[in-house]
Amino acid sequence: MNLLQGKKALITGSRRGIGAGIARVFAENGADIGINDIQRDENADSIMTEIEAMGRTATWHKADIGNSDDRTRMFDDFLEAHGQIDILVNNAVASADPHFTNITEDFWDFLVGHALKGYLFCSQRAVNEMIKQGSGGRVISISSVHSYRAWPQDTVYGIVKAGLNRMALSMAVDLAGTGITSNCVAPGYIDSRVLPPELEHTRGQLEGYVDYARDYIPNRRGGVPRDIANACLFLASDLGDYVNGQTITVDGGFLSGGVPPESVPLEPGMPGAAEQ
Ligand SMILES: NC(=O)c1ccc[n+]([C@@H]2O[C@H](COP(=O)([O-])OP(=O)(O)OC[C@H]3O[C@@H](n4cnc5c(N)ncnc54)[C@H](O)[C@@H]3O)[C@@H](O)[C@H]2O)c1
Repeated sequence: MNLLQGKKALITGSRRGIGAGIARVFAENGADIGINDIQRDENADSIMTEIEAMGRTATWHKADIGNSDDRTRMFDDFLEAHGQIDILVNNAVASADPHFTNITEDFWDFLVGHALKGYLFCSQRAVNEMIKQGSGGRVISISSVHSYRAWPQDTVYGIVKAGLNRMALSMAVDLAGTGITSNCVAPGYIDSRVLPPELEHTRGQLEGYVDYARDYIPNRRGGVPRDIANACLFLASDLGDYVNGQTITVDGGFLSGGVPPESVPLEPGMPGAAEQ
């Protein structure tokens, strides 16, 4: 399929995981790709080589999306290399939430700074370029099932992801008439590990998770990056033209039946934890 022939797409946090999966599927469909990440490693080299082997252009943009100067440089370099931007996928995140009682202002500033503020200002720069270009465009932000309900120790992550769903609504309204759509994709449990080729067949079958998936996920497996990339492809292509301001959940039905109760062991010092 060539659903994105000639399109220029920038994907944040795409050296590995779901972002690399989106880059791969977009390139398979004819797009040239800007790979952004906060660090470059062999995974970044690998996805760029793969894209180039498809006959597409892959450019590298090292940037912390939480940093204003980095964002400016990333977009300037992308535009210089590609001449235009048609699609932005906001995907980058670094998160490991503490328990609510231990959230610090530094952690809040760190996570909100890149995963909410960074997504907003990346989106703003992209749509301002798209408006100048005059041929519409697509902004897709990767949200999460954590935007809808709480799991243990996901307070700031959940707030950030819920904020992205809400941002898509406002962007749809404020960008009316521009031909730019703004949507989110909310993954469920996705096996986004970096795996060597010989273990790729185990993806979605993560040890320790297989039983859980069998019992609680209607599709009877964990998700894989391509599941998320396919939803992004739909939104990024002409097929998704009339979808705007939405959050599409891609979770194999995980949330449909109600998620089972789950708990994490209480650590010493947490409310209700046994005294030492
Ligand atoms: N894996 C899942 O089960 C799952 C579920 C729901 C939502 N998601 C969402 O999918 C997206 C991708 O998740 P993943 O599992 O592929 O994660 P990942 O950790 O494999 O990839 C995230 C990438 O973002 C990069 N990154 C982190 N901070 C950055 C910054 N400030 N600037 C630029 N790059 C930065 C990291 O270096 C990494 O390469 C995230 O938005 C995540 O919240 C994942």
